[in-house]
Parts: sequence; C-alpha cells; structure tokens
Amino acid sequence: MSRKIEIFDTTLRDGEQVPGCQLSTDEKVVIARELELLGVDVIEAGFPISSPGDFLSVVELSKAVNVGICALTRSKKEDIDVAGEALHHAKRGRIHTGIGSSDIHIKHKFNTTREKVLEQAVWAVGYAKAKGVEVEFFAEDAGRADLAFLAQMVEAVIAAGADVVNIPDTTGYCLPHLYGKRIQYLFEHVKNIDKATISVHCHNDLGLATANTMAGLIAGAGQAEVTINGIGERAGNTSLEEVAMIIKTHKDLGLHTNLKSEKLFAISTLVSDMMRMPVQPNKAIVGANAFAHSSGIHQDGFLKNSENYEIINPADVGVPTSSILLTARSGRAALKHRLELLGYQPNKIELDQLYENFLIVADEKKSVNDSDLITIVANTPLLVQK
Ligand code: KIV
Ligand code: ZN
Repeated sequence: MSRKIEIFDTTLRDGEQVPGCQLSTDEKVVIARELELLGVDVIEAGFPISSPGDFLSVVELSKAVNVGICALTRSKKEDIDVAGEALHHAKRGRIHTGIGSSDIHIKHKFNTTREKVLEQAVWAVGYAKAKGVEVEFFAEDAGRADLAFLAQMVEAVIAAGADVVNIPDTTGYCLPHLYGKRIQYLFEHVKNIDKATISVHCHNDLGLATANTMAGLIAGAGQAEVTINGIGERAGNTSLEEVAMIIKTHKDLGLHTNLKSEKLFAISTLVSDMMRMPVQPNKAIVGANAFAHSSGIHQDGFLKNSENYEIINPADVGVPTSSILLTARSGRAALKHRLELLGYQPNKIELDQLYENFLIVADEKKSVNDSDLITIVANTPLLVQK
C-alpha cells in the first residue's frame, strides 16, 4: 500500500524571508491559490508577530484558500496569541511553534539548559493547542542535536498534544544516510510516535536538501516541508518540484502525494517572476535546460527514442516539449530535425553542405537559432526544398 506524503509548502514563509523576495499580501494570495490548485496540503503563510504585513497575509490567506494555513511562532506567549488571532478565518489552522534542540542553540542562542528548553517546548505546545488549532512543533537545529535528547523532546511534545513534529536540518549540515538514521532512531525510540506525523524540513547549504528530505521520508516521515524553486534562507530549502517528481518517478518507494505535477512549471515561473528570483537554467525539473539536449550524441539518441535521455516526460511537469539546442557540439541528426521543423527536407548531400556552413556559424555564436538557420539555408548554394 502506498503511503501518502503531506506537502507543507513554506514558499511564503521560509522562502519569502530571502532578501529581495518580499511579496505584498495580494501577491501572496495569488501564489496561495495556485499552491492550492497544485495540491499542497498546508501553506505556511507567515510569522504573524514579526510584522503587520505578515499578520495580514496570514489573515488574508486564511480567507482565500481551503487548505491548511500555518503560522510560525517562537515558543512565546505573545507570538502564539498573535498567531491564534491571525488564524481566526482559517478552515484548518495550524500553529507552528518551536525552540532550539541542539546544544549549540541551547547554549549560544538561548543561554539556557536542556531542561529549561524542554519545559518551554511542552508549555508552548500546550498553550498553542488550547487555541483550538492543529499544532506543529519544530525542534530547531535537530540535524545537530543530541539524538537521545531529541527523542526525549519529541516524546514530550507529542505527549503535550503536538499533531506534527518537525525535525529541521536548519543549517543544512546532515548527510542523507545520517539524516535518515535520525528519523529512523526517533521511530524506534519515541514511544508515542504513532500519535503524531513526523515532518522533514531541510536546508540546502551542502546541496543535500532534497536528498535529506527523501532519506527522511523513506525512513518514515509523513510530511515534507518544501518551497517552489527551492528558494529559502541562504542556499535555500528543499525544492517542492524535486520531491514531487522523485516520488512520482520512483513508484517503487511506495509513496504518493496529492500534487498535480503538470502544474509545476507554471507555478515555478509565477514564483520566480513575482519574487524577481531567476531559476538557474540547469535547475532540476523547472530550469530552462531541464529538457534541452545540446550535444550531438545525446541529440541523436534522444531523436531515436526520447527515453534514451529523458526520465521524465516534459508534459508531466507542464513543459510543452523537449528542445534540441543547436551548438557547435550538435550533430547532423539535430540539424536535420530543426530544419524539418522549419519545413526544409534536405537530402544527404544537401545536409552535408548545410552542416559545414552551420558549424562555421555555430563556432561564432553560442547557439544557432531559427533565423540563423534560415540564413544558412539561403546562403547554401544547393537546392533545398521548402
Ligand atoms: O529551518 C528551520 O529550522 C526553520 C524553522 C523555523 C522551522 O525554518
Ligand atoms: Zn527553515
């Protein structure tokens, strides 16, 4: 039986914290509606006590969509009170409260002790729970926390009523097999773990956010915290589209989500445009080159059968078609394909001549576009039928 993974989207909270990516409430509403259509389960809408703008966003998103709306808090009374107020209109509200769990955070951020942190965590969960909403607890910097203490904390907050417990790799420190083992350890040592959903929230400082998230899900976590295009603090968060397509491509994992993958490319473009945050061309799934083939060997193999070089059908992520880029590395098969798309049908001798002229242009330019091709055809003294 396939296990459903809840998708918790934090594009509008962890993602929006990135300098320069700030959005107005109206823009957040537009993105939230698209996230709902995409099929996410929960949208983290902001940190209400941090600013009037974030408070308003949580209020307006609560009204605008029917999926879960989550508000972030520290484990402080005033934060939880303000979050409870902001979630008043949510059809399914969730308070995401938490505190540091690693000794580094306990000593150097809070200047306190494990005992006091544990006490505060339990109090915060109980206080949030009394607001009548779902409660998610985050054990900040869990990736570097002492495992036995982390297990003690997870057990205590579940006993206090947490519905979801988030095990963040806040600093992006973990290696996938070790992060997976952390989650497995919790499943083996926390007595009441079946009373809550374990959530994975990974950062990309070592480029491992997606790998760590998958390791955590495989080890039993039931929720993935992700952002569109992987935007987020420093090197970013786990990318929603990568997790979505790993789960869809590797059916053998026995996992599924509610996501409609054909909407991924459009929402990636929307978020990138609204946040003025370009997507790197080689970004998995949604980058401009994700379905573009440029070397001769790959182009020839792809044109014989797309499965030779593509593991995902571009239409499955909303990209209309793969593309064959013409560069000095391209071969005759790619040139012939692109000429045919323009209506030319060169025979072998014509193609050889065209290819020679194409290489001269391709060596001068980085890539050869359709108008270059038309000029090449016009300048090639052979009869090429149109
Ligand atoms: O990375 C992190 O630890 C966070 C928490 C606030 C959940 O974003
Ligand atoms: Zn985070």
